[in-house]
Amino acid sequence: MRRLLIAATLLVPLFGQHEKDGEESKNPAIGDPKAIEAGAKIFAGGCGACHGPDGQGGRGPNLRQRVFWHPLDPKTMYKAIQEGVGGAMPAANLPEDQAWQVVAFVVSLTSPAIENPVSGDVENGRTLFIGKGGCANCHAINNQGGKLGPDLSNIASVQATLAIRESIVDPDADGAVGYHAVTVTLKNGKTISGVARNRSNYSLQLQDRTGNLHLIDMADVTQMTLSKGSPMPKDYAKRFSPKELDDLVAYLSRQSVRPYEKEKDKEKKN
Ligand code: HEC
Ligand code: HEC
Repeated sequence: MRRLLIAATLLVPLFGQHEKDGEESKNPAIGDPKAIEAGAKIFAGGCGACHGPDGQGGRGPNLRQRVFWHPLDPKTMYKAIQEGVGGAMPAANLPEDQAWQVVAFVVSLTSPAIENPVSGDVENGRTLFIGKGGCANCHAINNQGGKLGPDLSNIASVQATLAIRESIVDPDADGAVGYHAVTVTLKNGKTISGVARNRSNYSLQLQDRTGNLHLIDMADVTQMTLSKGSPMPKDYAKRFSPKELDDLVAYLSRQSVRPYEKEKDKEKKN
């Protein structure tokens, strides 16, 4: 017993030293694309049954919505995963490197994509964005592109990587407010399509594909179809190969107007 205690006191200063060297002992797996991919596989196998294959929740809590889940710091999460939580979550007891890969994956679910850039051919992603995907018809990046959809110049600072991917393959899952597709026919016979930016019983603010805003008096409308879902094409999961999707997500996961760290500093000062 005494020998154990001595060993423990010898180890403590060593660990202390180590922590001063790194950025507050941040594990290298955090933010590392390869580790996150490996962690995603372990998660799907060992955690998905309770937390959902993509962390969306089930028997265990949703690990993606910050609103419902207060993110743990990586070290506490590591401990929770390895040792279990209460009686509800069993201890995983994974080899250390694998446990950190899982932590890196769970962290990537709630942190901005710019902090977890995925591997993939960014240049090809850009080509697909402008060409085959036709994304630039509706989305602008750095002032180039259409205005029907949200500007994506800063998407990597405000969305997690998996959320960006889902916006592309399953646009109806989480439609942004103020972007429902709408088509109206007016008394004068004219038909206008676009997105409903704002709407009441009396008026409609319709933005068409060229970005023009139409303020329409509902008294002039003879017919209106308002879709609940997103105006985004729904067939991207089929149109793109898995590699093309990876490239597109890799491109978007680097679109950040300001470096994320600076933005965080600004928030702190305000
Ligand atoms: C048998 C179902 C089950 C499995 C398997 C499971 N969890 Fe959980 N997990 C839970 C439940 C239930 C909770 C909530 C526990 C509580 O708050 O009391 C939880 C909580 C968590 C938390 C939050 C901990 C906290 O203190 O807030 C994280 C992170 C987590 N799980 C990650 C994982 C990971 C990663 C795996 C796979 C290695 C995993 N879980 C496997 C059921 C499970
Ligand atoms: C017909 C116009 C249109 C096309 C084409 C289109 N989008 Fe969209 N997109 C939208 C609209 C409108 C929204 C907002 C509603 C929603 O979230 O679905 C949106 C939302 C998004 C979002 C979420 C933005 C946010 O702020 O949360 C991403 C990411 C995205 N689109 C990427 C793409 C990519 C990548 C492509 C091409 C593969 C594409 N879009 C093609 C119209 C379009």
